[in-house]
Amino acid sequence: MSGATDPAARFTVTAHGRVNLIGEHTDYNDGFVLPMAIGPAIRMRVSRRTDRLAVVHSDIGPPASLDLQRPLHPGERSWWCYPAGVLAQFQRLGWEIPGFEAVLSADLPAGGGLSSSAALEVATATAVETLCGRALPADEKALLCQRAEHEFAGVPCGIMDQFAVTCCRAGHALLLDCRSRALQHVPFASAEVRVLVIDSGVRHRLADGEYARRRAECAAAARRLGVASLRDVAASDWPALHAGLPEPERSRAAHVISENDRCLAFAAAVARADWQAAGSLMNASHASLSGDYQVSCRELDLIAEITTGLPGVFGCRMTGGGFGGCAIALVATASAAGVQAAVADRYRSATGIDPRTFLTAAAAGLEVVAD
Ligand code: GLA
Repeated sequence: MSGATDPAARFTVTAHGRVNLIGEHTDYNDGFVLPMAIGPAIRMRVSRRTDRLAVVHSDIGPPASLDLQRPLHPGERSWWCYPAGVLAQFQRLGWEIPGFEAVLSADLPAGGGLSSSAALEVATATAVETLCGRALPADEKALLCQRAEHEFAGVPCGIMDQFAVTCCRAGHALLLDCRSRALQHVPFASAEVRVLVIDSGVRHRLADGEYARRRAECAAAARRLGVASLRDVAASDWPALHAGLPEPERSRAAHVISENDRCLAFAAAVARADWQAAGSLMNASHASLSGDYQVSCRELDLIAEITTGLPGVFGCRMTGGGFGGCAIALVATASAAGVQAAVADRYRSATGIDPRTFLTAAAAGLEVVAD
């Protein structure tokens, strides 16, 4: 910390990562998603400065020093483009952001598909709100963070991750209608099941270009079907419509339309504690993402294959954007530790990669504590 900090104003923002239980690649199609926040998080310890600099320290690289008296613009693509992007959005809203010093620490791996970038954005936005003593409505805050990611990180993401970090509650998954932005907190705290997160340890380079390509293919399919977005196509109408679409639009639309249905069915299965049904929907989601949407990879398919065959596992699927990153399994609590060890062992033998795995319950997305 530099000498210019004000010890009277210190606080820590904790912004958690997320996994998406189901509803993948549906957010930018105005569809449904069901993420939950997880234990691993980014912590931002903030103190006020007496000048107008934002100084952000991270062990990823040298500190970023940003002059808040000048408009911030997108620049070099580095870890600090996320906080800078968020600060820029608040500048545009006309907020007078006081100077501050922030020290980041994390047990949420960067670039591992668990929304570390959304966590960093939402942590920054929450720090600004706390420093300014005012708050944005939750949906505006999530959308502000999404704009920061589009403009400063150049990633054309949907709205799921920023909403998950901003809005998730402990013991609940978040059912989000990405068109109306209506939220439903779905109780997900049964002692019978746990979520096992399995990090494949790989991140394939084609991820970013392919994500934008999927978005474009879905938009093209919607145009050809004469609807505003694929959300507008009911699964029951699909058999009569799909013949009119060329590949790959047909397969992409098939995934999105069926995934929206699976997401709602999964939320209903969770509500009646029907873990078999929930697990089958996860398996079907993975098959659709791998086959029709083509965003899985050899390693994620292998995890799904290994895991689904184990006793005590209800279902398994890749989670997040794909092309590496993490898979999640819904596991009976009594078998969880054994499943965790067996998956790690088999994946290591098959790939030579020692996977990071952890069991998690549904956490709160965000906490602020005065120091
Ligand atoms: C990434 C994006 C999200 C969403 C998922 C796929 O995590 O940031 O907006 O599109 O991929 O469901």
